[in-house]
Amino acid sequence: MTAKIQVLMVCLGNICRSPTAHGVFKNRIENAGLGDKIHVDCSGTGNYHIGEKPDLRSIETAARRGYDLDSFRARQVQASDFERFDYILAMDATNLRNLRARCPQVYLPKLQLFLDYAAADCEAVPDPYFSGPKGFDVVLDLIEDASDGLLVHIRDRHFPDPGAG
Ligand code: 4NP
Repeated sequence: MTAKIQVLMVCLGNICRSPTAHGVFKNRIENAGLGDKIHVDCSGTGNYHIGEKPDLRSIETAARRGYDLDSFRARQVQASDFERFDYILAMDATNLRNLRARCPQVYLPKLQLFLDYAAADCEAVPDPYFSGPKGFDVVLDLIEDASDGLLVHIRDRHFPDPGAG
């Protein structure tokens, strides 16, 4: 069996945006029947919330759209993540910069903005932590968009349909 493609979603606190991206992309993987081929995880560049559940506002906003974030617990990016994951996707430019500062040169090509995969012309999933409830819906809209694009990209690149074309 070939190794699964490993995807890591990264934000600052690992309690709002990256757990949401984890939950949504996991849903996309399962719906596509690719659960045995792609693995997704999430982490934060900061250490403020290690061990905590996602923010209740993220849990509730995601649950309204059918995503379950309840079992996730926040962790911080570790040095071993740069080797272990194939796609390391930052929610905004600040997190991408912080990842680049820690990443061994050889693994730098793994680092990207998550929204590089979105159809929306937007670079950052905005930090919703200090926003009102609408901010959490904006986060989900962008994350659903990028998750759809990322799934197509990984499927086309790593698991092209042998019967197609
Ligand atoms: P996240 O949101 O990076 O999407 O998890 C934040 C959560 C907590 C903080 C900042 C952003 N904080 O400053 O504690």
